[in-house]
Amino acid sequence: MKRFLMGVLATLVTGAALGVVAVYSGLFDVAADAPHSRFVYRMIETAREQSIERHARDLAVPGDLADTERVRRGAGNYAAMCAECHLAPGKADSEIRKGLYPEPPDLTHPEAVADMAAQHFWIIKHGIKASGMPAWSRGGIEDGAIWDLVAFIQRMPTLTAAQYVALVESSEGHSHGGRSGTEAMHPDDDHTPSPGNADSHEHSHSGGHAH
Ligand code: HEC
Repeated sequence: MKRFLMGVLATLVTGAALGVVAVYSGLFDVAADAPHSRFVYRMIETAREQSIERHARDLAVPGDLADTERVRRGAGNYAAMCAECHLAPGKADSEIRKGLYPEPPDLTHPEAVADMAAQHFWIIKHGIKASGMPAWSRGGIEDGAIWDLVAFIQRMPTLTAAQYVALVESSEGHSHGGRSGTEAMHPDDDHTPSPGNADSHEHSHSGGHAH
């Protein structure tokens, strides 16, 4: 028994020492273009899935997510705040998406949104640590406007590029569910894409943003 306990203790001490070396040596690569090992990735993925599942479990999902008004209101905010990372119908992959690790999921596919309403609400409201997914509630967006975004995301995989653009144009642009004052914080925002430019991020290779 004593030997067993000594063994456990030695393992713990060695583990702690390795942990300290990993943290202080600088050997751990924090670069976004150097993927985690499969084991570390799986651990983080499982922790994230379990956490979101637990926190979103008791959320009451509104019964009117298919409501056209909700979808319309969500469209403008989605185009302004999310499409650059999560894409949209007719929108080509973005530089920011390619460079992020983990890569933001492409939310234009039906399998990306199926049965995920409560979890999506929680993720949009609280964000995901060290991933690039912001906690949008910190910016002042209200719960109702977050459900509008969830409603829009559920509808998005069924939209053509033209339908997407039309919906964004009919939306109130970048408004946080009618909160007064928020528009004033974004005086230069005009994220409404024109029909000829579903990809609002123009790739000008002559001057401006050129590589
Ligand atoms: C700067 C990039 C970025 C922006 C902008 C962004 N997200 Fe994300 N989002 C991410 C990343 C990265 C993840 C994946 C995080 C992870 O899996 O650890 C994510 C995850 C999600 C997920 C979970 C998807 C899934 O299948 O797991 C949803 C839903 C989501 N974001 C919605 C939104 C909405 C709505 C907006 C706009 C209000 C938004 N995001 C803006 C980067 C972004």
